[in-house]
Amino acid sequence: MMMELKCLKKGFFITFEGNDGSGKTTQILRLTDYLKEKGLEVVLLREPGGTPIGEKIRHLVLDNENQGMCLMTEMMLYAASRAQLVHSVIRPGILAGKAVICDRFVDSSYAYQGIGRELGLDTVRTVNQYAIGDCMPDLTFFMDIDADTAMARRNAKGEAADRIESEKMDFHRRVYQGYNQLVELYPDRIKRIDVSVSPDKVFESIKAYVDALLKTL
Ligand code: TYD
Repeated sequence: MMMELKCLKKGFFITFEGNDGSGKTTQILRLTDYLKEKGLEVVLLREPGGTPIGEKIRHLVLDNENQGMCLMTEMMLYAASRAQLVHSVIRPGILAGKAVICDRFVDSSYAYQGIGRELGLDTVRTVNQYAIGDCMPDLTFFMDIDADTAMARRNAKGEAADRIESEKMDFHRRVYQGYNQLVELYPDRIKRIDVSVSPDKVFESIKAYVDALLKTL
């Protein structure tokens, strides 16, 4: 049976955050299926990337050959990819009543560049204001797993590490502290999800927050 697409007056925007290896992908796919089953039109995105221009920026910023990249360049490249994504996909998607889900967004810049690279939250906020304006997620999930466990999980998969993943453990630990700081700063928007339990249990927590959001739309 063809499902009728529900037309929301205004869509919504959900982001997933966490250290490298925090297991966002599985849950993002489950949430996508769940929302589609509800008849919603889902737009699934990732950062950096999600647009042809953004994917080129992604290559530039993650390429292991670009070891000489200064921290300001790095922060601005992430913001540039984000500006393009907000302009051409996220904002139009929300306005068209779609469910927009993004694997990472501005909180990654706060955690990785602001705290991990020690550029400071204010610097990241200032630059990203130009990139995103008032386009902030309705809901953000912080997949809570400490940096060492997350990296061990990532390494066990045997995938090659990109320029950011190859950073020292101290950097990844600061990123984790950064996320914890963000949850304290924005408790209404950012929800901590314990990912040490089974994937089904993890999804139950996510689903509860999403159902509550859907009721407000
Ligand atoms: P990706 O392979 O997408 O990582 P993951 O699968 O863990 O999400 O690579 C994105 C990398 O870029 C990841 O290490 C986090 C980092 N990053 C930043 O440092 N700042 C940002 O603003 C964003 C969006 C990502």
